[in-house]
Amino acid sequence: MEASKEAFLREFGEHYGYPNGPKTIDEIRATEFKRLDGLVYLDHAGATMYSELQMEAIFKDFTTNVYGNPHSQSDTSSSTSDIVREARQQVLDYCKASPKDYSCIFTSGATAALKLVGEAFPWSRQSCFTYTMENHNSVLGIREYALDQGAAAFAIDVEETVHHGVSNGIAASMKVLQHQVQRRNEASSLEEPTGEAYNLFAFPSECNFSGLRFSLDLVKIIKEDSARILESSPFCNGRWMVLIDAAKGSATEPPDLSLYPADFVVMSFYKLFGYPTGLGVLIARNDASRLLKKTYFSGGTVATSIADIDFVRRRKSVEELFEDGTISFLSIASVHHGFKILNSLTVSAISRHTASLAWYVRKKLLGLRHENGASVCTLYGDSKALFHYFGPTVSFNLKRSDGSWCGYREVEKLASLSGIQLRTGCFCNPGACAKYLGLSHLDLRSNFEAGHVCWDDHDIIHGKPTGAVRVSFAYMSTFEDAKKFIDFVTSSFVALPNWIESGYQLMQGSESRLAAASFYLKSITVYPIKSCAGFNVESWPLSSTGLLHDREWVLTSLSGEILTQKKVPEMCFISTFIDLDKGILFVESPRCQVRLPINFITDSCNGGSEQIKLNGQRYEVQSYKNDVNIWFSNAIGRPCTLFRCFSSNHNFCLNKIKSASMGREVQSMLNFSNEAQFLLISEESVSDLSHRVSTKDVQKGACGAASQISPMRFRPNIVVSGGEPYAEDGWKNLKIGNKYFTSLGGCNRCQMINIVHDEAGLLQKSNEPLATLASYRRMKGKIFFGILLKYERSEPVGRDGDLWLQVGQDVHPNIS
Ligand SMILES: Cc1ncc(COP(=O)(O)O)c(C=O)c1O
Repeated sequence: MEASKEAFLREFGEHYGYPNGPKTIDEIRATEFKRLDGLVYLDHAGATMYSELQMEAIFKDFTTNVYGNPHSQSDTSSSTSDIVREARQQVLDYCKASPKDYSCIFTSGATAALKLVGEAFPWSRQSCFTYTMENHNSVLGIREYALDQGAAAFAIDVEETVHHGVSNGIAASMKVLQHQVQRRNEASSLEEPTGEAYNLFAFPSECNFSGLRFSLDLVKIIKEDSARILESSPFCNGRWMVLIDAAKGSATEPPDLSLYPADFVVMSFYKLFGYPTGLGVLIARNDASRLLKKTYFSGGTVATSIADIDFVRRRKSVEELFEDGTISFLSIASVHHGFKILNSLTVSAISRHTASLAWYVRKKLLGLRHENGASVCTLYGDSKALFHYFGPTVSFNLKRSDGSWCGYREVEKLASLSGIQLRTGCFCNPGACAKYLGLSHLDLRSNFEAGHVCWDDHDIIHGKPTGAVRVSFAYMSTFEDAKKFIDFVTSSFVALPNWIESGYQLMQGSESRLAAASFYLKSITVYPIKSCAGFNVESWPLSSTGLLHDREWVLTSLSGEILTQKKVPEMCFISTFIDLDKGILFVESPRCQVRLPINFITDSCNGGSEQIKLNGQRYEVQSYKNDVNIWFSNAIGRPCTLFRCFSSNHNFCLNKIKSASMGREVQSMLNFSNEAQFLLISEESVSDLSHRVSTKDVQKGACGAASQISPMRFRPNIVVSGGEPYAEDGWKNLKIGNKYFTSLGGCNRCQMINIVHDEAGLLQKSNEPLATLASYRRMKGKIFFGILLKYERSEPVGRDGDLWLQVGQDVHPNIS
């Protein structure tokens, strides 16, 4: 056994791995989660994994039993009703809720359960909706109902010095900070009370951002003595009801409703045992649910109604009153197969097992130091809190040795190259995100105005992170998962004495050494259709958009989305060729019997042009007849449309791009290429990369001949040969033959370069070469390889012999 595991087991052996359970963690992984081999899945707070045995049991159940619609009296209907009743009981048992006091209402998820409470809560103008800052958006949304009905709403921060299980003197150990009161209609608060006011307090049993568990003592305090902690609040009058959002927390610590009698608890089943999705539950205290006011009636909730007059009588039982339509009875029938696993391992053992992993990760992350002594990781949540104060979730951001933040996208991208799936962003918990990242209202608003929305790529704005990285564990997580994650952070983000980020910068400073080197144009490749295969030529004319006809055509989905190999890898099998003399683009595909000629001289004379918007850019395009679109649809196996960027009136897209090397905005005329007119790759840089990848393979013990990486994998327009690897990094401009080009800086690479098709024509995906590039060509979260160019045209465009690039021409960098 590895020393690190031994050390871990010495510390956590009694908690980790179900030592007294029916199966050890290693047996569970080997027999029930074979599909996780080679993958480190660390987003269990997002959705945990179902066990393969659980699914087999569900399949067997569904293929041997007959379940009918429960809304009738037939035998098949009663077997469904029995299984639904059993599932309700299991849910109540899971939260130690007595059926005398509580009902289990099935919903389509925790969110639907929260919406139900918000919608039906007896809000009045004297009501108040109070919630902890750390809450999911699905809880915050309740505020809309409250404010709409004239109620007040405010958030609070709860600080505890003593935690769970201490039931005396709790209030003294809890500090509450109240945020500003929100109201839609100021006048309403001055009106006289009209009967008893009901208030709602909502908090998560475990924060899905930081993993911090809230004390369930809050239930009693708020219900029985709210004035003690909401001291200065004018909103303590009336009756308080408490809602626990257990969507995250219930997987490892369901709320014990026999001890903490909350009025409402919400959960989603995929968070407990992976399957089913689209099913959740509202556990409601019967006395509280009687106060809810439901407007809608439906099949399922109605006892009788008369179609043409205002007459309806609803069903009496709580479940029947709130479950509209036919419940998701097959999903409900599968719930007991999930509970069987949790019950066999026991929730307490699951809680200890997962906590040991989270604790290990926290400890390791906190201990990481750059070579200059600076800490690598900032953890979110109170790091001084004790072992059991946290659920199995760790969220953090990483810093470079100079103190600057690494963006969460960078961490996510590199993690995915190492086979690690984690979560980044704000996790739909804006209050926790703002609180832990120190984002003011102004920051949040200006980030939004700068274009940042949930889940996007703006991970750092004005030097501050806009979100975090989150790893989370579940009952099937292993020490090996946690260790691989820590190893990944260490190898990718901890600066060692010869830290590799300087590698890229070094190349940029190497101009003087290169002055003497000679370079020549090795190959020219034209890609007429964006993301389809290109073709090599010995010589080719230049145009104001780059190589003539390069990326002049594009395929779009029927909904207008530009298609690329990222989503439609089959596009790489469409080969292209242009006969300039005849003015024909020829396309071929292994899926189509005929080679399709597209005459772009006659076609453009016949067809009209139209304006379309693609990826937010307006293009003037020419569309094609049905037979052309059918050909392409067959070639890629999905309906699509071909468009040609209309070049006759030079109405190209003007793209602004920030030049990485010169730090200024450059305007280029582009067809459908993403960033620039040309991508230049150096043969020497490709050889160096190939060498590094094969050395890595040998170190890993991979057998067989190391395969050379082809420059074509990077989809360059121009390959140059000569000089030292990465000489091109330092080029500000260059002359090929007598044509001048400006460098717009390095090309930021993505996973696309990891996809190749083998000799059999099958698509192969691996982590290379991006993973190797990431290890030495990474700067500020981007992985550079090759440079982008803009043609500095000084002559009029045309098919003049002078405007041609020719393979073999000399390349002169940095002409002053
Ligand atoms: C704490 C918390 N509350 C509510 C939700 C919403 O749950 P669902 O999307 O299953 O409705 C989530 C989901 O991530 C959550 O983590």
